[in-house]
Amino acid sequence: MKHFLTGAIVAAAMATSAHAQQNIVVGHALSTTSHYGVGAQAFIDTLTELSGGAFTGEQAPAGQLGGERDMIEGLQIGSLDVVITSTGPLGNFVPEIYALDLPFLFRDYDHARTTLDGDIGQELLDKIGENNLVGLAWSENGFRHVTNSQHAVRTPADLDGLKLRTMENKVHMAAFEGMGAAPTPMAFPELFTALQQGVVDGQENPVTVITSSKFWEVQKYVSLTGHVYSPAVVLASPVLFDGLSDEQKGWFQAAADASAAATRAEVNRLEEAGVALLRENGMEVITDIDKAPFAELAAASSYNVYTDQYGSEMVERIQAVK
Ligand code: PAF
Repeated sequence: MKHFLTGAIVAAAMATSAHAQQNIVVGHALSTTSHYGVGAQAFIDTLTELSGGAFTGEQAPAGQLGGERDMIEGLQIGSLDVVITSTGPLGNFVPEIYALDLPFLFRDYDHARTTLDGDIGQELLDKIGENNLVGLAWSENGFRHVTNSQHAVRTPADLDGLKLRTMENKVHMAAFEGMGAAPTPMAFPELFTALQQGVVDGQENPVTVITSSKFWEVQKYVSLTGHVYSPAVVLASPVLFDGLSDEQKGWFQAAADASAAATRAEVNRLEEAGVALLRENGMEVITDIDKAPFAELAAASSYNVYTDQYGSEMVERIQAVK
């Protein structure tokens, strides 16, 4: 495993030097050419520019520092500076975030982005801040779709018994159980090999991830179920962030905003071009899907995972966003 000197560690070691340059490590699960890679680079470039080179940065891509759950833990102890992660494992640290992971909640990208860029998004970033993490900006992973190696999935009956890798997220697991699959939670760095070796039959991720991870090498079928919107978030370590001046915090905030904008632009591009890429690489893309029966089963089995604890107010507020 590559070792990184994080900004927090360098800052502690060089606390007496007024001109210390800090190298910020930005961790994420995907390749440097993925939508997260584009966002990570935008973060680094913006931070370097605004700080006049006082901060530089490097990516720790492709899960080099572990799965998303490990990286979030790394932020809490200061072994990582900044992470771009889906909300998949974040509910394990900030349970209120599960509201965003409910299946068939967001109607489309506009609905999701408007919600996250408004009061609800800010409230949830603040909640993250109450849990030994710093939530800087809502970025994006995208609407998730099911892929598998066995057969075309058009109806919930086609999911019956399918061993499907999910994120380590109890809302997603409950939803897939309700839809008839056998959900198998697993960290993303283990997934490609698990698909290759038939440990699981399938997985679910946005087009952005299916293309950047070349899942066509190990999966034949992709069903455009769009069963859940997968937000991503730019997080910083409180160990680093709390030691910054207000001006420096402003640079980090601007870098996170630039990162989220660059990632969303890349998601837009891949939503246009990605499906053709899947077909070109031999995947059968199933588009004639009636989502209503999936939505009914998924909601019946998973919404209570959130509402039993927090009630339905947040769900209704999100549904009401125009
Ligand atoms: O499936 C996941 O774990 C996530 O969608 C991924 C690919 C790590 C991106 O956040």
